[in-house]
Amino acid sequence: MSSDILFSPFQLKNHTLKNRVGVAPMTRMSSVRDSLPRQDVLDFLVRRAENNAAIVYTEAIVTDYESAQGYPGQARMTTQRQIEAWQPVVRAIQQHGSVAIMQMFHCGRMAWPEVNPANRSIAPSPLTPRQVNPLTGEPYPVPDEMSRFDIDHVINGFVETAKGAVAAGFDGIEIHGAHGYLINQFLSSYCNRRTDGYGGNVAKRYRFVHEIIQALRPVVPEDRLITFRISNWGVADMEVSLYESKEEYQQIIRHLSREPIDAISVSTYDFSQKAFGTEQNMARITREVTGLPLMICGRIYDRASAEKALADADIVLSAKSMLLNPNWVADLKEGKPMKEYASEEANIAYTDTPLP
Ligand SMILES: Cc1cc2nc3c(=O)[nH]c(=O)nc-3n(C[C@H](O)[C@H](O)[C@H](O)COP(=O)(O)O)c2cc1C
Repeated sequence: MSSDILFSPFQLKNHTLKNRVGVAPMTRMSSVRDSLPRQDVLDFLVRRAENNAAIVYTEAIVTDYESAQGYPGQARMTTQRQIEAWQPVVRAIQQHGSVAIMQMFHCGRMAWPEVNPANRSIAPSPLTPRQVNPLTGEPYPVPDEMSRFDIDHVINGFVETAKGAVAAGFDGIEIHGAHGYLINQFLSSYCNRRTDGYGGNVAKRYRFVHEIIQALRPVVPEDRLITFRISNWGVADMEVSLYESKEEYQQIIRHLSREPIDAISVSTYDFSQKAFGTEQNMARITREVTGLPLMICGRIYDRASAEKALADADIVLSAKSMLLNPNWVADLKEGKPMKEYASEEANIAYTDTPLP
C-alpha cells in the first residue's frame, strides 16, 4: 500500500476529509451542572481539529433525562443552553477544516441509577453484567425489562438528542451501538433474552436499531452524516464475545448496510487481533460484507500501525494517542517513533487537569 494513503483525502458522502485520521469518541465526565462539559474539555476538541484531525467525535452524549446515564458528569444536548454551548465548538472545529460528529448513547443495564433523575435502570432483559460497577464497587442493579413505552421513550431520546446536534451545527451524529451499552445489549444474545418482536434471532434483535435509525433519518438533514459504532466487546465482562460467531456479526453488518447510514465505525481493543477464531481482524470481517465507509480504532499509535489498520478500513480513529499527544497527527505524518499509551495513562481524561 502506498504510504501516503493516510494523508490523502477521503470522500465521506458530501464531506471531503483532509486525511484519514480522526479523534475517537471519549467520555470525559467533566460536567458539574446542566449537563455541560467543562470549557477546557470543549477546547480540547477544537485543538485536535486545529492540529489536523480530519474528523472529531464528541464524548458520548446521554440521550435522555430518565435512565440513560452511566457515569457522573456526562453531557446532554437537548436544551437551548446545551445547544448554545456546543455551537461555537462545532464552528471552530469546522473552521479548522474538520468534520464534527456528535456521538450519543443510552447505557441500558450499565446505567448508574443514582445519577439518573428517575433513579432507574432499564435493559432488554432483567440481567446484570457478572462484574461489579468499577465506579461503585457494587453489583449493577437488576434492570427493568423494557416495556413498549420504554422502547418508544428511549427512541425519542435519540431523536431529541439528534435534533440538538443538528441545531448545534454538527456535521453528523453517531449512534453508539458498541461497548455493551443499550443498543449493543439488544443486538447481543448475551444480554437480550426477550421473546417478543425485539428478541430471538438476529433480525429480531436488530429491530431496535432499525427503529432508531428510521426515527432519526427524518430529523437529520440529508447533508448531515449518520455513523454507527459497533464492537464485539463491552466495558463490563470484557472477556465475553458479544456476538456468537463471525456469521452472526456479519448478519448485523448486512442489516446495517441496508440502512440510510453513511459509515460504520468498528471499535476494537486491538485492531490487529484476529476475531471469532478466524485469521481475520474485525475490520476485514466487516469489510467482507459491507460497501459502507469504514472506520477502525484500537491500539493505533504510530505510522506503521495506522497504515496497517487502513488495509481494511478507510479512516483510523485514535483515543489514547489523540488524548495524550496534541501533536499526534503531525507526528504520524513525520513517521516519528511513538509510544503506545497504557489505559491507566488515559485516566487523566477523567480528572480536572486540562489536557494540552
Ligand atoms: C478516556 C476514554 C474515554 C472513552 N469514551 C468513549 C466514548 O464515550 N464512546 C466510545 O464509543 N468509546 C469511548 N472510548 C473508547 C475509544 O473510543 C476507543 O475505542 C478505545 O480507547 C480504543 O482506542 P485506542 O487504542 O486508540 O485508545 C473511550 C476511551 C478512552 C481512553
